[in-house]
Amino acid sequence: MAQDPGHVAQAGGYKTIVYVICAVAALGGLLFGLDQGFIANSLETLTEHYQFGVEGGESYSAILATGGIFGALLSGIFARFLGRKKSLVLAGFIFTAASALSALLPPLPLLSACRFALGFAVGIASFIVPLYLSETAPAPIRGSMGTLFQLMITIGIFLIALSNVFIARTFVTPATSLPLMFLTVTLFAALMFAGSFILPESPRWLMLKGRRDQAITVLRRTLNSQAEVDAEIGEIEEALHGPQGAGFRIVFRGYFFKVLLVGVLLQVFQQLVGINMMIYYSPTIFGYAGMTGLLAMMTVPTVNMLFTFPAIHLVEKWGRKKLLYVGAVSMLITMLAAGFAFQSIGSVSDPSLISGAPKTLLLISVIVYIFGFAVSWGPVVWLVCSEIFPLEGREVGMTITTMVNWTFAGLVMANALTFMKTYGNASIFFVFAALCALAIVFVALFVPETKGITLEELEFNLKKGVRLRDLGNRA
Ligand code: BGC
Repeated sequence: MAQDPGHVAQAGGYKTIVYVICAVAALGGLLFGLDQGFIANSLETLTEHYQFGVEGGESYSAILATGGIFGALLSGIFARFLGRKKSLVLAGFIFTAASALSALLPPLPLLSACRFALGFAVGIASFIVPLYLSETAPAPIRGSMGTLFQLMITIGIFLIALSNVFIARTFVTPATSLPLMFLTVTLFAALMFAGSFILPESPRWLMLKGRRDQAITVLRRTLNSQAEVDAEIGEIEEALHGPQGAGFRIVFRGYFFKVLLVGVLLQVFQQLVGINMMIYYSPTIFGYAGMTGLLAMMTVPTVNMLFTFPAIHLVEKWGRKKLLYVGAVSMLITMLAAGFAFQSIGSVSDPSLISGAPKTLLLISVIVYIFGFAVSWGPVVWLVCSEIFPLEGREVGMTITTMVNWTFAGLVMANALTFMKTYGNASIFFVFAALCALAIVFVALFVPETKGITLEELEFNLKKGVRLRDLGNRA
């Protein structure tokens, strides 16, 4: 979107409500991360308390993804009929209720239902938060708010890893430590829930519902001058006269189907490079190699968070495709290296006897692997999926691609450890290495470079029938 000079001149001088909007939205991203990162350093405690084996642990972990699929599916409907604000209130309520109920350590079926509900809320938040921000935050900060969401996910994963380690070490009995772990999530959830009540409704949604006066009232609260309010109202009106959401039938239009396939496969590969095996199970996997302690518990979340920062800058400087290549090649090499490390370890009955060399190789591989993901496939895939769809099909495209993301995330979460148990610890790393190689071929053949081209130009090329990988070239 073009920035009007009035906005730019006032950058830095926003009203308090703008900061509230950003903070509540950031909490939405944080909760995504807190729930996604919850398992890694609580699995041992959960397993001890609930007495589930490897498969039970995997099912409990993965049910978040099933909830995510449903949340993503219904979020478009919630966004349209309830409005953006009420959808955020709903997500905040579910986050709070489900994590508070989990803290009571209910029987396993109810605990699993709560994790499903948390996934449902994550699915809603991951759709509504970016949408709400793009419609409500003042223009100059909209772009950075989009990347802030991704950053908050990794900060959430890091924070919960850290607090779960701290809690598990301080309160050794699961009956005490588990409730505290869940209450940490509840605390942030309650903040989001309470905060979402003071949010203004999205002016764009109000205009869509014909409530022009209310939209103007909201814009007066967020913007600094009447001129800005008038300009924004004009822009929304123009957009509302343009192409509107086309519904699911758009999937059958050739041009849309082609680009949908790119988005879907990007999300498939984002998960099939194996990231959530690391996010969920790295302490367990390090344990198989005889590594325990802080290094095993904190390496993945720390590296993941730190390397998301440079991605924000590099994605504009290097472009999306170059980053995807750098990421996939790093992940391919390091997955092979981790596989060799486990092969040289072989099957030992006492992991504490494993020598230093394969452990070091494994540790370095994991660090470089996470760097490879965090700097590229993590943020870039979400970004490209928000860019490639023509306006009238953007909601449908993003709903489908988000559901695909969760489906394949769930597949990895539900099977990674069992796969290692069945086919040997090294095997899964070689499978993921092969999938990284496929991802590279896919990027080379089908993914367009979307850096520095307007969404309108992309759409024009798409409808003209330009080859997928050339969509980002100027007409
Ligand atoms: C992925 C998640 C993953 C996270 C790790 C996101 O982009 O979609 O599945 O857990 O990155 O940072």
